[in-house]
Amino acid sequence: MSNSVVTMDKIVNLCKRRGFVFQSSEIYGGLISCYDYGPLGVELKRNVKEAWWRDTVSSRADIVGLDCSILMHPKVWEASGHLTNFSDPMVDCKLCKGRFRADQLEQARCPKKPSKRPGECEGELTEARAFNLMFKTHMGPVEDTAAAVYLRPETAQGIFVNFSNVVNTSRNKPPFGIAQIGKSFRNEITPGNFLFRTREFEQMELEYFVKPGEDDAWYEYWQQRRLQWYLDYGIDPAKLTLRAHDEDELAHYAKGCCDVEYEFPIGWQELEGIANRTDFDLKQHIEHSGKDLSFFDEQDKERYVPYVIEPSAGADRATLAFLVDAYDEDGPENDRRTVLRLHPSLAPIKVAVFPLMRKGGLPEKAQELIALLGSRVAVDYDQSGSIGRRYRRQDEAGTPLGVTVDYQTLEDETVTLRDRDTMEQERVAISELLDVVVEKTAPPPPYPKLSPGG
Ligand code: GAP
Repeated sequence: MSNSVVTMDKIVNLCKRRGFVFQSSEIYGGLISCYDYGPLGVELKRNVKEAWWRDTVSSRADIVGLDCSILMHPKVWEASGHLTNFSDPMVDCKLCKGRFRADQLEQARCPKKPSKRPGECEGELTEARAFNLMFKTHMGPVEDTAAAVYLRPETAQGIFVNFSNVVNTSRNKPPFGIAQIGKSFRNEITPGNFLFRTREFEQMELEYFVKPGEDDAWYEYWQQRRLQWYLDYGIDPAKLTLRAHDEDELAHYAKGCCDVEYEFPIGWQELEGIANRTDFDLKQHIEHSGKDLSFFDEQDKERYVPYVIEPSAGADRATLAFLVDAYDEDGPENDRRTVLRLHPSLAPIKVAVFPLMRKGGLPEKAQELIALLGSRVAVDYDQSGSIGRRYRRQDEAGTPLGVTVDYQTLEDETVTLRDRDTMEQERVAISELLDVVVEKTAPPPPYPKLSPGG
């Protein structure tokens, strides 16, 4: 039975203690808002990205993948509007020199102790000014304005500028999509809340190209499908919702936008945005590059610039949501355990193997099982400490299954298989073990509907 309150501090502590996430450059005092994924974290995040890729790309014939460079021609950002529009309003406190987002002063606290809301101390705030969030750098050895390039603030633009390349080589026609997972960078004025808002993060983006007029149905379809993805991977339905943007919240390119929101310990926050970007981006790139990015439908003898539906998710933010949602503490006060109830297919380690004793041929038998299971799933081996402690260590890591090799194993070729959530154990024949483990840790079946029609 769950009886825990999940706080961001508990998640941060677990992540550090168990090697999910470390502060970047920690031995030098750390670099604010930058994080490194440790041995368990890198597996968890890989599994989150793999789950997204499987659902979005591999399981569908109408979506292909792409992996674009982070540095792109500066004109891309002129055409997309990022150079002029991708900014947040910023104010400075003349006293403490703190910098804050002018539209988020309510939640902000100044760096001076005791910490106050900006403007509530003696410090005067400057007028708000637009602060562009793109990181600027220089290409080549000369640091002049002609050599200025930007770290991409979204992966989407790499997809738009490759639209014709993909259409010509993959022979797809709308409705079809191009997906990409990759790093994006934003010089956020106020990053924070652990992995939630960082300056370097990974996005999982899909640009789905449709015929104008069919966009509303696809917009609706992708909202439902993306919401269901989180549910399929175990997110508590009570903590997940779709929220449509009000007119005044819409980005300059969007006809409609809807967020998948999750109730983090810091409150309800955006997990993913699903936008109807219309033909804005392709038209902008047509205008700025002089290249024809329209689509000619051979069958209908019709030329048009496709509309785009864009589900855009953060890999780090999704990983944080899965961690928060899975975190649990259960058991009586004197025998409490911390357990990550991750969906088995997301768990960093699928099965841990334990020899009951460090002698009598049990470690050797356990190593045989590591070779057997390791051929198909991520495994771990632990022979130190009491068996109870070893189970608890794996519970904290989210490992769904534990296999114990005991003296009976040597007699009848069976092992005990322990379930992380119920803590129940069953005796399983080694000849069936691999199939049982693969089945119990398999991903959920893909979303059944391939289009708004079915
Ligand atoms: N191409 C559209 C786009 O980039 P966005 O709403 O700005 O839209 C999409 O970003 C997703 O990327 C967000 O829902 C969030 O999950 C993730 N994201 C954005 N900024 C982030 C940041 N500073 N840190 C972590 N994740 C971020």
